[in-house]
Amino acid sequence: MQASPVSPGPLMELSTGFWASKTLAAAHELGLFAMLAEAGGTTPDELAVRAGIEGRPAAMLLTACASLGLLEKTGDRYRNTALADTYLVPGQPYYFGGWLQMLDRRLYPGWANLTKAIRTNRPTTWNPDEQESLFEGEDPELLAVFWDAMHSLSIFTARALGAAVDLTGRRRLLDVGGGSGAYDIELCKLCPELNATVYDLPFVVEIAAKKVADAGLSDRIGTAGGDFFRDATLPEGHDCILLSMILHDWNEDHDRDILARCFDALPSGGLIVISELLVNDEKTGPAPAALMSLNMLIETEGCNYTAREYATWLEDVGFQGVRTTYFDAPGANGAVCAIKP
Ligand SMILES: C[S@@+](CC[C@H](N)C(=O)[O-])C[C@H]1O[C@@H](n2cnc3c(N)ncnc32)[C@H](O)[C@@H]1O
Repeated sequence: MQASPVSPGPLMELSTGFWASKTLAAAHELGLFAMLAEAGGTTPDELAVRAGIEGRPAAMLLTACASLGLLEKTGDRYRNTALADTYLVPGQPYYFGGWLQMLDRRLYPGWANLTKAIRTNRPTTWNPDEQESLFEGEDPELLAVFWDAMHSLSIFTARALGAAVDLTGRRRLLDVGGGSGAYDIELCKLCPELNATVYDLPFVVEIAAKKVADAGLSDRIGTAGGDFFRDATLPEGHDCILLSMILHDWNEDHDRDILARCFDALPSGGLIVISELLVNDEKTGPAPAALMSLNMLIETEGCNYTAREYATWLEDVGFQGVRTTYFDAPGANGAVCAIKP
């Protein structure tokens, strides 16, 4: 008797992955979760009236969201699950909607051209003939979604990093490419003796200053506008440097350059922390890191590197005592840390 073939079940799940992500994006774009948080629940007919859509798609959307764990049903009414209430309702402290919007508006069209990116080794979300990097210029479309998206991802990841990496005794953090300041906000909340500087491109630190003010931390978190490739030195006077989701944006030469600048800016005993979705040393996964790496193909010249690669580069510029700590968060699965002797 012939052995039964391997089931194609995993292929069905892989190939339809975008059905689930588009369901989440559409429900969020229609304001479903905000509506349910306010109204307490809905039937398909009520949703149709409130959203100005027909009953058929309203019922289908509610069923699909329930199947994905975003809604639960009691009697004939659908309500947000705790997951949706916590992360998908605008105004909540850990609102994840910025990330969803960037995925749907910016990355989804870029991923539609993934084969082209693989064939050409060029990004698909911007034109490398017209600009030097993803971050160049003040593209209002990018401004609107990119840093909100990073904030959604990083505000939660920063808490996991803060719990995993010992910052005891550190007083002044320099967050290189600190974006919206999410890490600074969370780490300063966690470590009462810590002050921080968000160092990023001038138009980005304006975004960070606003987030910091909203968090009531302007007295402990400052900003410094600059460019880590063009400035003569990075801001000094810090005993700890964080690079969160920076090195995966650039190629190895640029990364070695950034690490050398960090080394120069730290005093003896200074700590460097690289927070990333680390690919394992065997280069077989894990999937969130490996897929983020492909995301870097459509967006940047970089990729997601391994802890061993970072350790080599850190030691080459002079850092010692390299240690990797693993944790579980959406924007990073580990931190590679080292000390300037
Ligand atoms: C992927 S985001 C990471 C933001 C933040 N570290 C986080 O984890 O939320 C990369 C950041 O690097 C900043 N960046 C890019 N090129 C830069 C440069 N030449 N100098 C300073 N910052 C830069 C971007 O503006 C952006 O905020």
